[in-house]
Amino acid sequence: MKIVTCRAPVNIAVIKYWGKRNEKLILPVNSSLSATLHLDQLCTKTTVAASSAFQADRIWLNGKEQSLDNPRLQKCLREIRQRARKRKSSPSKDAGLPVGGGGSAPEEMLDWHVHICSENNFPTAAGLASSAAGYACLVASLAKVYGVEGNISDIARQGSGSACRSMYGGFVQWLMGRKKDGEDSIAKQVVSEDYWPKIRILILVVSDQKKATSSTTGMQATVQTSPLLKYRADVIVPERMVAMATAIKERNFETFAELTMKDSNQFHAVCLDTHPPISYMNDTSRTIVRLVHAYNAFYNQTKAAYTFDAGPNAVLFTLEDDVEELLSLITHFFPQGEETNGASFIRGLPVDIKTPSQELKAAVTFDPLPNSLRYIIHTQVGPGPETVEDQSQHLLDQDGQPKNLPK
Ligand code: DP6
Repeated sequence: MKIVTCRAPVNIAVIKYWGKRNEKLILPVNSSLSATLHLDQLCTKTTVAASSAFQADRIWLNGKEQSLDNPRLQKCLREIRQRARKRKSSPSKDAGLPVGGGGSAPEEMLDWHVHICSENNFPTAAGLASSAAGYACLVASLAKVYGVEGNISDIARQGSGSACRSMYGGFVQWLMGRKKDGEDSIAKQVVSEDYWPKIRILILVVSDQKKATSSTTGMQATVQTSPLLKYRADVIVPERMVAMATAIKERNFETFAELTMKDSNQFHAVCLDTHPPISYMNDTSRTIVRLVHAYNAFYNQTKAAYTFDAGPNAVLFTLEDDVEELLSLITHFFPQGEETNGASFIRGLPVDIKTPSQELKAAVTFDPLPNSLRYIIHTQVGPGPETVEDQSQHLLDQDGQPKNLPK
């Protein structure tokens, strides 16, 4: 039996992907750019085992066996096996390996079945991009098992578009590509996770509810009905991609933050321009927007930025020197509710919470809203997928059966 365990990160887009030009191959209408979030706070862990003894391909997600009768999953499996087969016939080495080489797979392995077991270290239903980390981890682990190297972000893309960006650490762009077969629609690193160490990220979990409209269905409706989307994809995003990459390379926080907020707002604008309209943000989300703008206006400087995906949770960016004050302000206006079930309200990297100054509090013109946030995760930009070397960490036992199934 060959067995590999990998961990892969969640990413949050600062230039959003919304809309496909090819549904089957998952090819986007515009390029996008994201920050990879640190594995220590949010990650998916996946073990893949291949053995001649297995009767069928099987998969367990968060403790439950799932059907493999899922075209996106099948596509990822098929593509990895195909690439492994190709490598057998022409074993030339590619560059740009994201997870490290696993060595070539023995010939007969291509006919073996696989067992896949995957778990998130964060609540799946919290709307925290679990499919991106999930598919990135699946593809990274499969690649390692089969000894497939090079840029495999195009395979992760076919699981879930945004997953291709989780194949690298730091800041990552997904280039939309022009080719019909999608060969050039791949993710590339803009800068590594060490490039801008002062960036801090706060995830404000507004709701644990599953989203009403999935990204896949939502973006389909937008492509079909929104005249604004075409303008965004043809005119706005190409310019923004260049400006965003430059702001990141220059570590220019104000420009980075302004572009991030504008792009989040434009993404939600095209959702509203969809017919019938789609709205992902709720009252709490909109109040967070007000708080961030009040904070920036108080200092007459852009010290914080927000971005929202297809759900009400906010992701805020700020710099290390301001995180304590920003978080103190957030917890003052969105204090913890009564029901905590013993779990901490602020999770992740440690921060001291202090009472914000009277002047700063006065700059925010709404009353505190207890119980609006479930919890906050404090994290930073992190690395791409990693192989877990410690054998005891495998999620499958020596027979290829899940170790942690609920009794
Ligand atoms: C709003 O990657 O989940 O998070 O490709 O259909 O699986 P599919 O969609 P998905 O969409 C992500 C949309 C987004 C923006 C982004 O991450 O760029």
